[in-house]
Amino acid sequence: MKIAFIGAGKVSTALGLYFKKRGFEIEGYYSRNCKSAGKAALLTHSHPYSSVEELMNNSHMIWITTPDDQIEAVVRQISDLPVLRKNEKLVLHASGVHSLAMLSPLKENGYNTACAHPLLAFSDPVLAQEKLNDVWFAIEKQGEENRRLTDFFKACGNQTLSIDPDKKRLYHAAACVLSNYLVTLLNASYKIFEKSGIAEEDIHEATKPLLESVILNLKGKDCKEALTGPIKRGDENTTRMHLESLNTFMPEMTELYKLMGRQTMKMLGDYSLREVFKEDES
Ligand SMILES: NC(=O)c1ccc[n+]([C@@H]2O[C@H](COP(=O)([O-])OP(=O)(O)OC[C@H]3O[C@@H](n4cnc5c(N)ncnc54)[C@H](OP(=O)(O)O)[C@@H]3O)[C@@H](O)[C@H]2O)c1
Repeated sequence: MKIAFIGAGKVSTALGLYFKKRGFEIEGYYSRNCKSAGKAALLTHSHPYSSVEELMNNSHMIWITTPDDQIEAVVRQISDLPVLRKNEKLVLHASGVHSLAMLSPLKENGYNTACAHPLLAFSDPVLAQEKLNDVWFAIEKQGEENRRLTDFFKACGNQTLSIDPDKKRLYHAAACVLSNYLVTLLNASYKIFEKSGIAEEDIHEATKPLLESVILNLKGKDCKEALTGPIKRGDENTTRMHLESLNTFMPEMTELYKLMGRQTMKMLGDYSLREVFKEDES
């Protein structure tokens, strides 16, 4: 089976490297910018294409890996192309928020369609392809190609998650909270460290063991068990001192601190510090 990609960015480069490592043939890449296609093709020892029609004629599994907002335009661009043996081809997208319905013009034109969202934050494609061994792919519950996709991912050594199309946006919001807002939260912590007088260049290294210990604590435990700190201990004075200090030096961070405090109480089912974290009435 020959695999190809429309949109040569982070996800497609990492997937290309990974599927190749798993023994599948990577046919090549088509992208808006031919340089991107050339770069991804070079890394995966495949072909850069300047014609999307040619790429589709030469491939069996075609991933649309453009930004989400471009998928519809790509579908419009390719659905009427005079591609041969459409019924032997599987076209899929990797978006976590869009459903299979987005590919219905292709389905109506005779293609098989599916979507598979890799639950991973792809930044550097080479690093991401190493992590892909453990990645779960979310596929839609009612998808006609589920059996084929599950078999394909099983052959790769990956597990699949079955998502209700009506809840796919919610699923993606969850992924976003984990992978994006964790970074935002980390950035907020770095800013507070900086304000406390820790040199900016020391913050990353000095906090690394702390961060790693949190991830380690989460392994094999639920969030409630893994949690440490003043809210878990019920140290009211400590949390009050944090808030006083934030109010003095970084008032813009108090809202975030209180919001996280309320969420932490909710997680623990213990509201004894509710007065500390109550919302401002103003
Ligand atoms: N990044 C993640 O962590 C992640 C995780 C899971 C799923 N996804 C999904 O994977 C898909 C790709 O994401 P990504 O992060 O790989 O995006 P990306 O790095 O921005 O790559 C997208 C590529 O598509 C090309 N492109 C844009 N519009 C195009 C068009 N109309 N026709 C052809 N090529 C076009 C881009 O342009 P050039 O040719 O100009 O370079 C770019 O190289 C998205 O659906 C996203 O939701 C992403």
